Amino acid sequence: MSIDRIFIVGAGQMGSGIAQAALQAGCRVTLHDTTEEMVVRGAKTIEKNFARLVEKGRAEKRQTEECLGRLDKTTDLAAAAEADLIIEAVFEDVSLKKKLFSELDRIGKPGVVMASNTSSISITEIAASTKRPEQVIGMHFFNPVPVMKLLEITRGLATAEATLQAAQAAGAKLGKVAIVSKDSPGFVVNRILDPMLNEAIFMLDEGVASVEDIDKGMINGCNHPMGPLALTDLIGLDVLLAVMEVLYREYGDPKYRPAPLLRKMVRAGHLGRKTGRGFYTY
Ligand code: 3HC
Repeated sequence: MSIDRIFIVGAGQMGSGIAQAALQAGCRVTLHDTTEEMVVRGAKTIEKNFARLVEKGRAEKRQTEECLGRLDKTTDLAAAAEADLIIEAVFEDVSLKKKLFSELDRIGKPGVVMASNTSSISITEIAASTKRPEQVIGMHFFNPVPVMKLLEITRGLATAEATLQAAQAAGAKLGKVAIVSKDSPGFVVNRILDPMLNEAIFMLDEGVASVEDIDKGMINGCNHPMGPLALTDLIGLDVLLAVMEVLYREYGDPKYRPAPLLRKMVRAGHLGRKTGRGFYTY
């Protein structure tokens, strides 16, 4: 099946990034969110990124205008009926995702691939909220989506081979490097990455080193492009906490215990770049 029309639920950081990558791959994209304001904000982010590409001479204005001409915005979930591929990229809330997938199940055309960008929630559980779990799969992108090459594809217990192949084809079309994972908490990358970020927050709370020195350590000692605390600000502290809660609950292993300082900062609303304040101020 060729994937030309992509419907994206959630116009935040991840949803708008996925939309941009799909537009650049030549797809027709519909970006959905619950309010007009949120959809417009997502579309503005894409426009800004395109303007930057033009400024840097990485794209021609005509090309980016053509891309934007293939972008539709909507607050009506029913518009998903046209899509070959639906990608859900809303907040990590299992009941919200299950409710959405049961609605999308009623709306989506026969054979549509229904993907979740979840970084930690069970694909099998999300799929079970539909009557066609064989068409549900995980397609987990990395932040910032237009830059990061990886696509982590997760098979739920009932995911069909044809759905996996369609997700792999979509990933290739978007220019991503795909890896396939079982439906295991944290999949591949977050199971490794997030405990490291969480550990950096424990160390900060214990006064082992400053924010700057923890980050400098990993940048200069391990060649990471950014330090763990700056990366947590980029991902969102609420997102990291949600993943750690799932790892802790699902594996029942204390090594995944969320750092108390992470929890405190989320409670304070210091979520990182998106709120202007996290471990750094923006
Ligand atoms: N959107 C689009 N493009 C962006 C961007 C964004 N938000 N942020 C940066 N870029 C582009 C820049 O335009 C620039 O493009 P160019 O090479 O064409 O000029 C390029 O990325 C490099 O950006 P900068 O020169 O401004 O800055 P850096 O060289 O420091 O790179 C970075 C920024 C790409 C974010 C880099 O620091 C990096 O790779 N950091 C690690 C990111 C990472 O680990 N992401 C994974 C997070 S885990 C995750 O997402 C999973 C989730 O489930 C938790």
